[in-house]
Amino acid sequence: MASSQPPQSLPRHVAIVMDGNGRWARKRLMPRGVGHKAGVDALVKVVQATADRGIGHLTVFAFSSENWKRPEEEVSGLMSLLLVALSKHLTKLKADGVRIRIAGDLDNVSEKVRNALRDAEANTIGNSRLVLTVAFNYGGRWDIVQACKQALAEGVSASELTEEVLSRHMAMAYAPDPDLFIRTGGEVRLSNFLLWQSAYAELHFTDCLWPDFDAEELDRALAAYARRERRFGDVGESGLGEGAIGSEGGH
Ligand code: IPE
Ligand code: IPE
Ligand code: MG
Repeated sequence: MASSQPPQSLPRHVAIVMDGNGRWARKRLMPRGVGHKAGVDALVKVVQATADRGIGHLTVFAFSSENWKRPEEEVSGLMSLLLVALSKHLTKLKADGVRIRIAGDLDNVSEKVRNALRDAEANTIGNSRLVLTVAFNYGGRWDIVQACKQALAEGVSASELTEEVLSRHMAMAYAPDPDLFIRTGGEVRLSNFLLWQSAYAELHFTDCLWPDFDAEELDRALAAYARRERRFGDVGESGLGEGAIGSEGGH
């Protein structure tokens, strides 16, 4: 299905809130950690499928700045799982041309986790087939505040502070804004993910729990995206024609 779409209907950047691991495990009468582990397996496959479809950027929400509120056992389980997942999958991801980048506040995670994430970034710096950004200890509000702080530290004055200046300081300044924002797990909210960057993202919510999300689900989201008409505040294709009384209707 994805291959029959004209190239411009393919998003350049897909962002995913990988939600539903806990419910996936509960359905199987298993501890939540089993769901998180299955979530890593799903991610590895979705990374491959995204790269195969020629999408250049995939950003995934792995741990939010609010997830520290969870029981200490779950938080430490997630930290350990991250370390295990990196050591298990990094070599293959590197061989597949994936560049890993991290978005989030790494000053406030353990040194071990911080080093593992920085190593993964350094290790894959030469790759460009797919940029996989792992949002870790990330929050959209944190991102906006840290961008303001950076701009202030650079001496940017109030009159010089524009959207472009702030964009340059956001954690993902290297990537185009997400075109397609997917949330699995049935909740219809943003949960503080990429607030600034998703201003004009197309939103796709699915009940599919993250560990069940696969290439087929990705294609469903891409097909839904391809049917959307993006307007960015303009009148759009469908607005032209009926409304075009004068000559200045188009741009
Ligand atoms: C998302 O799954 C993974 C993380 C937040 C780390 P959840 O753990 O939120 O799963 P549910 O929403 O409880 O099912
Ligand atoms: C968002 O999911 C964070 C991640 C997927 C990492 P949550 O499960 O934390 O979101 P809420 O609490 O349901 O809003
Ligand atoms: Mg959740």
